[in-house]
Amino acid sequence: MKKTFALLLAAIMMLALVACGGGDKPADSAPSDAQTEQPADSAPADVPEAPAEGGTIGVCIYQFTDAFMTTYRNALQEILEGKGYTVTVVDGANDQAKQNEQINTFITQGVDALIINPVMTSAADQIISTVKDAGIPTVLINREPTPEQMAVYDKLVYVGCDARQSGTMQGELILDTPNGGDINGDGKISYIMVQGDPENVDAQYRTEYSVKALTDAGKEVEQLNLTRGDWMRERGQEIVANDLAQFGDQVEVVFCNNDDMAIGALQSIQAAGRKVNEDIYLVGVDALDAALNEVSNGNMTGTVLNDAVGQATAAVEEMEKLLGGATYASGEQSVYVDYVKVTPENVGDFMK
Ligand code: GAL
Repeated sequence: MKKTFALLLAAIMMLALVACGGGDKPADSAPSDAQTEQPADSAPADVPEAPAEGGTIGVCIYQFTDAFMTTYRNALQEILEGKGYTVTVVDGANDQAKQNEQINTFITQGVDALIINPVMTSAADQIISTVKDAGIPTVLINREPTPEQMAVYDKLVYVGCDARQSGTMQGELILDTPNGGDINGDGKISYIMVQGDPENVDAQYRTEYSVKALTDAGKEVEQLNLTRGDWMRERGQEIVANDLAQFGDQVEVVFCNNDDMAIGALQSIQAAGRKVNEDIYLVGVDALDAALNEVSNGNMTGTVLNDAVGQATAAVEEMEKLLGGATYASGEQSVYVDYVKVTPENVGDFMK
């Protein structure tokens, strides 16, 4: 009786397998399927086979609470999943040791490729040597290592923006105001600088190049204060509240290295009874939805689009090139997406 039942079960399973297409595929089945059925050794030794549709990708983000990186990671996930990859996105919680563990776990799990937003730029050497030893094609994003650091591994590419450009654009937004940033007409532009995480080139370059744009235009500048706000809205609010309490009407321009801090800054500017574009200017970077609204309402002087979707698209493109066997020559391992200046005139083009 038991044996008959077992035979019956086996026959049902066979039938189900054939019905589901689990048997031999016809010769004209989709090319990606055909590829998976090739014996592993059929590819030429020096050209790694691209993974079949459905490869697994590990994405490491430095910190999920970061507003801009939230837009960015959502775009990455959507693009990757739309292309049929299995994606796991993990939160480094701003802790490099934790991110190192996450990278090792992905490697142990045998992911096909990694996309990594390092917690610390200074950890680049270690991250690169880890992925190189494991032979995993890797795209670094958002926190740019030096060309020398990248040169040690030819299956590695960086996708990001040239932060100098965003700084220059912030300066230009101020130069384009009716009084060129000199609200009180004393011949100099007095500003406060709310900086991101200074370990990060984006923060360094935006701080430097926003002011450089002013001095290159022949303007005299006066820095009243520079404080690190680590990209966070609450820090922007705190810093600007303190600076306005200390320097009052002397503050003509508030430069924020990103929009989230600028939104925090705006709360303090309004709480202090000041009015953006009348008695103070305020600029950020990223073009977060909240900032686009404020530019359009006249509560921010302008911002700079940090193109999350464009960068996510480029990161996936580069990842697919690597999976297809591409390698990168040293000095050619950075792919840049352009920033775009956002003003009250063109802000409508960026709003959804
Ligand atoms: C910058 C962005 C900031 C923050 C930072 C994280 O490019 O403007 O808002 O997300 O990256 O590294």
